[in-house]
Amino acid sequence: MSVTIRLLDTASDAELEQFNALDDALDLDAFGGVQPYSVAERRLACEDTEYSRAQRWVAVAEGLEGGEMIVGRGSVHLPLQENTELVEVGLSVHPAHRGRGIGTAIVEEALRPAIAESGRPLVGAWGEIPADGDPDDPALPVNRLAARLGVSRKNIGVCRRRDLPLEAALLDTLRAEAEERQGGYRIEIWDGPAPEEHLASYGALLRQLDLDDPDEDIEYEAPEYTPERIRTGERRLAEQGITQFQSVAVAPDGTIAGNSVVHVKTAPGASLGWQENTLVMPDHRGHRLGLALKVATHALLAERAPEVRSLVTFNSHVNPWMISINEKLGYRVSHREVGYQGRMGA
Ligand SMILES: CC(C)(COP(=O)(O)OP(=O)(O)OC[C@H]1O[C@@H](n2cnc3c(N)ncnc32)[C@H](O)[C@@H]1OP(=O)(O)O)[C@@H](O)C(=O)NCCC(=O)NCCS
Repeated sequence: MSVTIRLLDTASDAELEQFNALDDALDLDAFGGVQPYSVAERRLACEDTEYSRAQRWVAVAEGLEGGEMIVGRGSVHLPLQENTELVEVGLSVHPAHRGRGIGTAIVEEALRPAIAESGRPLVGAWGEIPADGDPDDPALPVNRLAARLGVSRKNIGVCRRRDLPLEAALLDTLRAEAEERQGGYRIEIWDGPAPEEHLASYGALLRQLDLDDPDEDIEYEAPEYTPERIRTGERRLAEQGITQFQSVAVAPDGTIAGNSVVHVKTAPGASLGWQENTLVMPDHRGHRLGLALKVATHALLAERAPEVRSLVTFNSHVNPWMISINEKLGYRVSHREVGYQGRMGA
């Protein structure tokens, strides 16, 4: 079997179909479910915006009898409005094709040249490691590739999973626990774009998450979420067939105090959902709103997306507040993710 590294051809339906198959295989392996994309959705997902530009490569294996199969992928993402020193690298190899030098070939033939060409001094990457063991073990394949990229560990995220739906009795118990401290706050559900009248405070909330998320030694500049940027994000999700369900805590004075977001697809076979942001604004903490928000989204999923069987969440290992809420909901550790960064030439 020979393997070639080349740019992903987003004009080719056949290639995007294979790219989607690789994506499904990776999700099934790491998360036990899939969020399938159509070819059209994948093509739109690959388009640049005014906030981020990307290049993508694939590792194509050719069998002895002919026929090609995409067995790996690499990418570089360049933030365009802030973090303009940073180039973010992505790299994954099909679980059945690991340990054969494909990851190394993507790093050497595509990623390192692209990093150099970007002229950006700061490189970032994420890598999956097992739930237990020394995260700095130099024998771990991701650590070997991180060394080749010139990046080192700056943060550890823990990936947790929960089978859905949550039992109604558990939701009732946790809802009652949250309500003890809820006072005059109320929980609303948004299942589409953020209402126009809340755009400014919603933007502040999104930025606060980037400011507060305990990411240890990762260098990252929190973006400004202007109304245009929020709308671009919402349009991109819709184009990819992703439904954004979110619960929002509204303070007694009508301002937005917190939210919790999940991304799901309602396409046939879509069994996996992603937990995205959960945040309570600093002035509104201590009312168990984090728990109330998550109870609301989990109850909603059971009703509106019953095909989703598994929800996945990532937390920094130094975030005891969020982790304790997730454990109450029944999330269990699946694996860890190391956040790597490095300065070129440093
Ligand atoms: C990390 C990943 C991309 C590696 O892909 P791969 O094709 O297996 O990589 P390679 O075969 O080139 O192996 C890289 C190194 O790990 C070693 N390695 C790989 N699998 C191994 C195994 N099972 N046992 C021991 N060593 C192994 C290789 O010998 C090589 O070491 P070297 O640098 O000394 O030559 C792949 O495991 C993956 O997709 N993981 C999930 C996504 C992820 O974490 N990406 C990392 C982003 S930094």
